[in-house]
Amino acid sequence: MSHSQLHPLQVNPATGEPYLRLGSPLENIILTPHRPGDAAFTVPILNDPGVVRWLGGPPYPYTPSHAESWVSSVIEESDAILRELREASAKDPEAPLKVVGDCPVRILREIKEDGSEVYLGDIAFRRCTYPHEAPEERLRLSEENARRPVGDPALVWCVAYYLASSHHGRGIMTMALRTLLSAWAIPRMGVRRIRTEVRIGNIGSVRVFEKNGFVLDRTVEKEYPNCLGETMHGSCILWWEHP
Ligand SMILES: CC(C)(COP(=O)(O)OP(=O)(O)OC[C@H]1O[C@@H](n2cnc3c(N)ncnc32)[C@H](O)[C@@H]1OP(=O)(O)O)[C@@H](O)C(=O)NCCC(=O)NCCS
Repeated sequence: MSHSQLHPLQVNPATGEPYLRLGSPLENIILTPHRPGDAAFTVPILNDPGVVRWLGGPPYPYTPSHAESWVSSVIEESDAILRELREASAKDPEAPLKVVGDCPVRILREIKEDGSEVYLGDIAFRRCTYPHEAPEERLRLSEENARRPVGDPALVWCVAYYLASSHHGRGIMTMALRTLLSAWAIPRMGVRRIRTEVRIGNIGSVRVFEKNGFVLDRTVEKEYPNCLGETMHGSCILWWEHP
């Protein structure tokens, strides 16, 4: 029987956009690719101290121009994966599902009763770059990891995410991570090992990982200022291995 290489993503019949829906009781939340109009919604979230205090990545203050260039680069990445999958479907509709190096859906959106959608946040898998290792070891491990082919069970991934403060504490990120792991990361990316680093004190993020089977490996204590100038005390390193 022929199948789509997008499986198990669903496709919005009106827009052609692929999506994944979270399970009960969060069926009103979907994961989609980034859209060009998202940039404006990311700016207030990525300037919110309750969010950025815990993030190592985005520049701060986060400007509309940062947002525009980030969103267009992520759209290019998801378009490339979707193209790869659609070309594989077109070439051989009976071919086994392809393992790919990324997940094309990552943006959390809430669907309101009137059908409008609210941008809530982002969750993405990427190759681990060992941020808190000593520089030489970091380089060695990152280069080794970068050379591993897509689908290699030894490849070490990491997960990065954020959610608008208005929606914290409702179980959304716990379920988003669970859904992406089981629906896409494990079967469609071949993810078998994940290493994440969470700043000490970020209890909510540690819980999201623990509730998805991640285990605390060690705590690295080190004082440094975050983007708000607050003193951070180091990181918790958690690992997940495919059961
Ligand atoms: C971390 C974050 C994504 C968690 O998302 P969320 O959808 O609010 O998390 P959930 O509602 O699924 O909560 C998971 C668990 O953490 C707990 N929790 C959530 N926020 C918490 C907080 N601020 N303090 C203490 N516990 C918290 C919840 O109670 C729940 O635990 P429980 O089931 O044992 O009660 C969100 O708080 C966020 O975006 N924070 C800012 C950015 C960030 O920290 N990114 C991660 C960097 S590693």
